[in-house]
Amino acid sequence: MNKLVVSLLLTLGISGLAHAAGDAAAGQGKVAMCSACHNADGNSMLPNFPKLAGQGQRYLLKQMHDIKSNTRPVIEMTGMLDAMTEQDLKDIAAWYSSQKATTGAADPELVARGEQLFRGGKIEEGLPACTGCHSPNGAGLDLAIFPKLSGQHAAYTEKQLTEFREGIRNNDGDAMIMRTIAGRLSNKDIKALASYIQGLN
Ligand code: HEC
Ligand code: HEC
Repeated sequence: MNKLVVSLLLTLGISGLAHAAGDAAAGQGKVAMCSACHNADGNSMLPNFPKLAGQGQRYLLKQMHDIKSNTRPVIEMTGMLDAMTEQDLKDIAAWYSSQKATTGAADPELVARGEQLFRGGKIEEGLPACTGCHSPNGAGLDLAIFPKLSGQHAAYTEKQLTEFREGIRNNDGDAMIMRTIAGRLSNKDIKALASYIQGLN
């Protein structure tokens, strides 16, 4: 093989490896600013601040890209990601993803409706079950960038579903998967789902 091709392959291979994943240990040292809201281990205490612990790396990275570019505006985080490099974001994603998420509890009055919607959808109204993408236990499927939902604060989930429905959150791609789905949910449905999801693990 030509020397130039060999060295090109080597360079590509090595940089490919370096870009493959983040370094969780390095990420731990980069989240000082984030801890005020998301906690050092990603298990945020306040219900409006999403838990990041145990969330998929690809999903976390995508959200950080979207927040940084203002595709998903998060006022509380204005400017915070501006100085971060791509490697910083990958390391942070690796750190939070490696942390164990705490679980919450569901409101017993809402559990039955929430479970029915989560597992069965509303076939007659064209609402698919959430399990198809977010998995039966809510763990998600990070290879496809389907986020983990289980254990998330109900107030945060309720806000996301409402904002997808209103089109205020619109970073779900050209297929508009979540905007379409949330468009078929009533306020009561959203409350029940958010509560059920908080108690899932
Ligand atoms: C002042 C509080 C605050 C700080 C500090 C903060 N965030 Fe956030 N973050 C939020 C809020 C609030 C949301 C959700 C906004 C919404 O309702 O859509 C969020 C959302 C996110 C999400 C998306 C989560 C999901 O499930 O979609 C990621 C990822 C994230 N933050 C990472 C970070 C990182 C990394 C830092 C530090 C560099 C940071 N945040 C600092 C308040 C904060
Ligand atoms: C066809 C696949 C699919 C189905 C079915 C689906 N989702 Fe999603 N969901 C997604 C994708 C993809 C995203 C991430 C969008 C993005 O990149 O911001 C998402 C994001 C979410 C989020 C935001 C998570 C966060 O941390 O901010 C919530 C909440 C959610 N879905 C709830 C549901 C519920 C409840 C159902 C069932 C009623 C459902 N989803 C059905 C694909 C799906």
